[in-house]
Amino acid sequence: MSAIDERRSQFKKYKEDVKDRGKPFYPYAMFHDTVMSLVVVGVIVGLASVWFYTSGENPDTCGGKDSCLLGPRYSEPADPGTTNFVPRPDWYFYFLFYLLRIFKWPDSVILGTVGIPTILLIIAFALPFLDIRSERRLSRRPVAVVAAILVVISMGELTYKGAVAKEALASEVVAAVPQWAQREGFANDPKAVAGANVFAEGGCTSCHTYLGTGGGNLGAPDLSAEGSKGKGVQGLESYVADPSKFGNTVMPKFGAFASIPAKDAQGKDLGISQLRVLAIFLDASKGPK
Ligand code: HEC
Repeated sequence: MSAIDERRSQFKKYKEDVKDRGKPFYPYAMFHDTVMSLVVVGVIVGLASVWFYTSGENPDTCGGKDSCLLGPRYSEPADPGTTNFVPRPDWYFYFLFYLLRIFKWPDSVILGTVGIPTILLIIAFALPFLDIRSERRLSRRPVAVVAAILVVISMGELTYKGAVAKEALASEVVAAVPQWAQREGFANDPKAVAGANVFAEGGCTSCHTYLGTGGGNLGAPDLSAEGSKGKGVQGLESYVADPSKFGNTVMPKFGAFASIPAKDAQGKDLGISQLRVLAIFLDASKGPK
């Protein structure tokens, strides 16, 4: 029997089975789905209510006034001014998170975030048209079984790597500052060096790169030669204080640095703000010599 005849006879048998024993989708299957969906939503609403009404505004009242059966409402108040927060996804997104380290902005990130998922989706759509045998035994489906195992292994591997991946610590970036000062030629300008330290500690390198250090994330440009663009110290200062005024809504506002006095390496007060030394550092960055 040729493959096409086999398929025809299988399809015929399927149609007969449906006629004999089948039930229409509406209302049978739809009723089941509706009931089950309502149960799931009900459980979520129930758990959310228990969590909300057993916890109080203040996490410290847990165990006392409030039982906090399902955990406190929050553990720490959000700090909108933080600049050294290292964003990490929940564990079940670690594999995607790690893909972003393999595919670097800007060259291949489109491949990693759009290209590969699209290809996988197309394969998933095409599958019912390609895999038309009615065979379901795993031992007779080597391609599907091997593919599934490979997917599980690679997701496991990526999840593990994402879990143990280290972010560049501020202290490691700070350690690179003397080398920056040397290569950019501002080692004799204590204000620029102080600004480089603010830059290294302020979390700028979680998005920007500087002489090979840093993330290169979210489309943030390399700043190693920012001083050669002719913006001037004043221009750079107002940019960093509030980038949204210059059409940059990705970068946080660092205006708060204007009220923190800058210190040099010996801890001596430089008499100007951290925002100012940051701008002096950027202006002194004319690219490596
Ligand atoms: C959340 C990511 C992020 C962080 C953190 C960040 N930036 Fe940016 N920054 C960007 C992005 C994105 C751009 C580019 C916006 C554009 O091209 O419109 C940018 C642009 C800039 C520019 C202008 C570059 C140019 O040539 O156009 C400067 C200067 C700058 N950032 C300085 C800093 C400094 C200094 C810090 C730390 C105090 C910092 N940034 C922290 C994302 C960030």
